[in-house]
Amino acid sequence: MSNTIEMLLKRRSIVVADLSEPGPDEAQLETLLRIAARVPDHGKLAPWRFIVFKGEARADFGRILENIAKHNLPDFTPERGALEKNRFLRAPVVIGVVSCCQSHPKIPEWEQVLSAGAACQNLVVAAGAMGFGVQWITEWYAYDEAVRQPLGLAKHEKMAGFIYLGSSDVVPEDRKRPVLDDLISHWQGSE
Ligand SMILES: Cc1cc2nc3c(=O)[nH]c(=O)nc-3n(C[C@H](O)[C@H](O)[C@H](O)COP(=O)(O)O)c2cc1C
Repeated sequence: MSNTIEMLLKRRSIVVADLSEPGPDEAQLETLLRIAARVPDHGKLAPWRFIVFKGEARADFGRILENIAKHNLPDFTPERGALEKNRFLRAPVVIGVVSCCQSHPKIPEWEQVLSAGAACQNLVVAAGAMGFGVQWITEWYAYDEAVRQPLGLAKHEKMAGFIYLGSSDVVPEDRKRPVLDDLISHWQGSE
């Protein structure tokens, strides 16, 4: 069996709490982004873009999240503030994947959304193949109206996810997986 197949058969996300330095260097990050932008894309619309958070930018964005949470949450506490401030510092690099659908006479929006999901998954698989721990998450800030402006999202754009990347020596137990046979049928003609 090829290494790729073996890796995909065992693939596990590494939860953000288990990620640490080092993250991908500049060359590795460029490779990851190149792979992310190489997904199936009907009509060559490139219906995705990437926002990289690294270094100090992670702390700057955390302060914005803290302020928004303070404003939004009636039960805001200093502990919650600290959580928000440190959110993007949980991993050395975070890549925000933005789904950018456009109205097109032939390519439905649905297909453009799927392509953005594929970009996220390419990042997950490629980062794993490079030996990094990786988790695709959304959490509250992917959906919050007030976060759209600091993220620089245009009206037609949505967050497909945030890909947290780092190193980890944690080997997670496998997660319960669905019974494959329950998901598969063989089409045998219509009645
Ligand atoms: C669109 C999307 C959003 C997700 N958001 C979160 C999240 O906010 N928090 C979380 O713990 N897991 C989230 N997950 C799940 C993780 O990416 C991951 O699948 C999960 O930790 C299970 O690990 P596994 O990939 O090894 O099966 C999300 C997955 C997807 C596809």
